[in-house]
Amino acid sequence: MANLKLTDVAKVYGGQVEVLKDINLDIKTGELIVFVGPSGCGKSTLLRMIAGLEKISGGTLEIDGTVVNDVPPSERGIAMVFQSYALYPHMTVRENMQFALKIAKKSQAEIDKAVEAAAEKLQLTEYLDRLPKALSGGQRQRVAIGRSIVRDPKVYLFDEPLSNLDAALRVATRIEIAQLKEQMPDSTMIYVTHDQVEAMTLASRIVVLDALKDNGHKYSIAQVGSPLELYETPNSEFVARFIGSPAMNLLEAEIVGTGETTTLKTTLGGGTITSNVPSTPQDQGAKVNIGIRPEDAIETDADDYAFAGEVEVEERLGEVTLLYFKRAHPDADQVIGKLQGIHPTHRGQTIRLAADPSKVHIFRNGVSLLYR
Ligand SMILES: Nc1ncnc2c1ncn2[C@@H]1O[C@H](COP(=O)(O)OP(=O)(O)OP(=O)(O)O)[C@@H](O)[C@H]1O
Ligand SMILES: [Mg+2]
Repeated sequence: MANLKLTDVAKVYGGQVEVLKDINLDIKTGELIVFVGPSGCGKSTLLRMIAGLEKISGGTLEIDGTVVNDVPPSERGIAMVFQSYALYPHMTVRENMQFALKIAKKSQAEIDKAVEAAAEKLQLTEYLDRLPKALSGGQRQRVAIGRSIVRDPKVYLFDEPLSNLDAALRVATRIEIAQLKEQMPDSTMIYVTHDQVEAMTLASRIVVLDALKDNGHKYSIAQVGSPLELYETPNSEFVARFIGSPAMNLLEAEIVGTGETTTLKTTLGGGTITSNVPSTPQDQGAKVNIGIRPEDAIETDADDYAFAGEVEVEERLGEVTLLYFKRAHPDADQVIGKLQGIHPTHRGQTIRLAADPSKVHIFRNGVSLLYR
């Protein structure tokens, strides 16, 4: 059981390199929080500060109401699992898993009980006497997780634990982590990943980090929400494009009708399109970007459409067909359509895309109209 509270947490390396600023986050017992963000935005730094491996430069970290900024890592009740699992090669799975408990001078009976319970949770019972070299990558990562479980920590921190595994093992291990979490409903977990699917499937809430507007090298929280909140109602273009793959299409447009729903006209050709996002009379004429996810784009023959373009490249994956449109000008983002299933070839054809009004996002100066 552990609640974590981060208040105005900041990190400055070496007294001058500011990395993180204004990190405010309340994490409740039992949550699985996933941190995502561009490479170098400070995800590992944040985990290491929570673990106590890195000094907190500003603000406070509380665990269950007690400020722990100056509490050493071993007394925080936190276990961290890294990308490189670093098992002791000359020790068996059992010896690796019990190592920390031996150091802590627990009784052998206590140690055996903890190791066997953890092995069962992780389906490692039959491997307890093997050396790490005789295990697959996924099994080794499970041993690394087992090493932390035996200590019965209040909080688990995972820093890209699956990124060394091949695609199939990643999927299998991801599902095992999800099941493990279900078996430990009172444990709090914080998980860093670059993998969209891991973030979407494991998280109770996702924390998206982004560069602060005033300074491209300092990062803070852009949005916190459940996976589908972030997918359906991103607060900014950055979050909109960060969550979902391929990224949301952004199209320049002008607001031509306001009210409970908003009517927009795209700047680069295209007709008018309606969005269920409400707007005020002051928004009339505003230059905005409309956002349509590739999977929400619908092929249409109608005169009201958001985008028309020539299909330059097509990827037919069976499950879906991806259409990459020729850019209207060299600096324009590429528009992508994702159609369900298999279609006759579209290559070289000019087609029109529209979307259901409930799927049309509107951003002004990068910020969603829903969040102003
Ligand atoms: N010991 C250090 N001294 C100075 N700067 C550091 C130190 N450790 C990390 N940094 C810098 O802090 C920033 C954040 O690094 P961090 O490793 O936390 O990023 P990350 O989000 O985990 O990136 P990735 O996704 O690539 O793992 C980077 O710009 C990095 O160069
Ligand atoms: Mg990292």
